[in-house]
Amino acid sequence: MASISVQVHASSPTSPVRPMNVLRDLPQVADLIELCFSSTMDEDGQSFLQEMRRASRDNNFLRWAGQVVDSASLPMTGFVWEENGRVVGNASLIPQNFKGRRILMIANVATHPDFRRRGIGRALTGRALQHARQKGAKEIWLHVREDNPTAIKIYEDLGFVERARRTTYYSTPNALLQTVQDGTSKRVTVSKPNLRDWPLQRKWLGRAHPDELNWYSRWDWDELGPGLWNFLRRSVVEFDVRQWAAAQDGRLLATVSWMPSMRASNSLWAAARPNADAPGLTSALEAARSELTHYRKLVVEYPSGEMTDAIQSAGFIPFRTLIWMRATS
Ligand SMILES: CC(C)(COP(=O)(O)OP(=O)(O)OC[C@H]1O[C@@H](n2cnc3c(N)ncnc32)[C@H](O)[C@@H]1OP(=O)(O)O)[C@@H](O)C(=O)NCCC(=O)NCCS
Repeated sequence: MASISVQVHASSPTSPVRPMNVLRDLPQVADLIELCFSSTMDEDGQSFLQEMRRASRDNNFLRWAGQVVDSASLPMTGFVWEENGRVVGNASLIPQNFKGRRILMIANVATHPDFRRRGIGRALTGRALQHARQKGAKEIWLHVREDNPTAIKIYEDLGFVERARRTTYYSTPNALLQTVQDGTSKRVTVSKPNLRDWPLQRKWLGRAHPDELNWYSRWDWDELGPGLWNFLRRSVVEFDVRQWAAAQDGRLLATVSWMPSMRASNSLWAAARPNADAPGLTSALEAARSELTHYRKLVVEYPSGEMTDAIQSAGFIPFRTLIWMRATS
């Protein structure tokens, strides 16, 4: 098979890889992202794409964006592959700041279907990674669907390492809440979490939603715990958090937490005793669903392969499994 060697450095005038020009490229990049991701895009992805399209028509925004490419978080920085004036490949770099951490996320890696298997995706990802390192990013992340072996191979070859594998579930709009009727689950009670159980809940939250990914969830689990500052935040600043805890004979089995979010769908953050029976988590999720009925869609993310039956029994169906990968330094 013929092989094509790729010049990865964008500085060469002959290289088809060049930095994205936000003033010029945004509409073409949006088209490419839509073409390459439309079959797998969720609601957050769709609103992100709409934002890109809106931004590409707003001259004031574009002028501002041209100056803040490395600090604002639309995909305004990144690299494109151009052939005969046409953008056929893209890799975006999205900066994230959370609790003092400077993170760069590589996203929207896409090659037009007519140009695949020529090394474009690999070259663009490699160039984005190189740029992120030059910018001194302390953490460089990306995520990829578990059923995307082509992309996974590129990322592994470039030194990305899997850190978490998480399945996203969506609530089914009309699913009837089923209260599990067997003898064991009858004794499961759901109430607000007891502060006494906080250390246990914190431990399970950290297992189910690793702290190293909290820049993405934008949750600091410690804000749920006891303490004067957290009490003031919740009561005075009206930081609206709701929580449900399922217990059996006074023994905590699972918790579910919710707070309002800017995203298109609302997340429930589940945490459960490792290897626990399903009814605890199912009951806590059902209680959350019946209280939050005004939200059209609720989302649960959980480590892949764990508590699947419990989550599905509460009326959620699996949507996708993402592998979270981090670049080795
Ligand atoms: C993923 C994508 C960007 C790859 O683009 P591309 O330009 O074709 O990628 P490249 O040509 O640089 O590399 C493809 C590599 O994957 C390898 N590959 C292809 N199919 C593969 C498969 N089924 N399993 C494992 N590896 C595979 C190829 O051998 C090649 O590796 P090589 O360079 O060692 O030969 C492109 O398929 C795409 O746009 N997909 C839709 C959007 C998407 O899923 N993006 C990734 C989001 S995380």
